[in-house]
Amino acid sequence: MRKARVLFVCLGNICRSPMAEAVFRNQVEKRGLAEVVEIDSAGTGDWHIGKPPHEGTRKQLDLHGIAYAGMKARQFTSNDQSFDYIVCMDSKNEADVRRIIGEAAHSAKIFKFMDMLPAVPEDDVPDPYYTGNFDYVYELVTEGCEKLLDQIVSDIK
Ligand code: 4NP
Repeated sequence: MRKARVLFVCLGNICRSPMAEAVFRNQVEKRGLAEVVEIDSAGTGDWHIGKPPHEGTRKQLDLHGIAYAGMKARQFTSNDQSFDYIVCMDSKNEADVRRIIGEAAHSAKIFKFMDMLPAVPEDDVPDPYYTGNFDYVYELVTEGCEKLLDQIVSDIK
């Protein structure tokens, strides 16, 4: 089995992408794939660099017994093109990622998180920093991460 490196990207790296990072890591560990799948997250913005996940995200993770100790926000950079999968939480994040990396160089698969959930009528993971609805984001993230892991396992085996 090859290894896979996965990066989740949102705007602030305090709400959606750290939730996805923690939930996905939990699923990867449960399937015994921690040695095979490497996981990180980043934000396109710089406002929250060094901060832990937002309290709304921490509350969801605590409720579901998912670890997030030591996680700190960082900003996405062009070096992140070395990830195999760059999973963007919304359309603006994806456009920014493509702009920062530049069209020529990247070999990473860049796509939107909601591509994993075609039956759900949302193109973007709604930003709970503005909506306050961390419960709904947790639902989407949990379901989408399972689909993403299925896809990656089938890609690398
Ligand atoms: P996130 O949410 O992109 O899911 O981490 C946001 C967090 C902070 C801000 C915007 C969105 N902000 O403008 O500070």
